[in-house]
Amino acid sequence: MFETKALPQTADKAEIYQSLAQQLSGLIAGESDAIANAANMSALIYDLLPDLNWAGFYFMRGPGLVLGPFQGKPACIRIPVGRGVCGTAVERRVSVVVPDVHAFPGHIACDSASRSELVVPLIKNGEVVGVLDLDSPLPDRFDEADRVGCERLVEIYCDASDLSGITG
Ligand code: SME
Repeated sequence: MFETKALPQTADKAEIYQSLAQQLSGLIAGESDAIANAANMSALIYDLLPDLNWAGFYFMRGPGLVLGPFQGKPACIRIPVGRGVCGTAVERRVSVVVPDVHAFPGHIACDSASRSELVVPLIKNGEVVGVLDLDSPLPDRFDEADRVGCERLVEIYCDASDLSGITG
């Protein structure tokens, strides 16, 4: 059984992401199934990062993104490239931090409680194969430390997972 290691209330973001990276590595070590790893990674992030109301994955399936494993309320299933925060991250091939989702043109509201968002593209062998999407009910929840920390988590995920068949 994998036991999530809770963090002290006083932990700063660098400590939180260091612990998350260690725990993620342990959780997916030796496992290459991209869906299983995405499911466990969503659960780990949702459990340990404070002030989230959604954490999960979308994968490129044909021309657009399709919902993958996540934690939180049911979400919209298909997102075209270039639409919303997720589709924008795919188009630009970089992480997108949105301090106020109401001010982001084309934001797709899956949960009306969401106020800020961070989306990190999954890039494997130079190809965008999906995104990690985090939503928060707090405005301005995500900063540079979150972007850098989540990019490291995505790197661990992409290195461990066989993503060759995911974009079918
Ligand atoms: N808000 C996202 C859609 C996905 S949900 O937040 C889970 C977007 O604008 O792309």
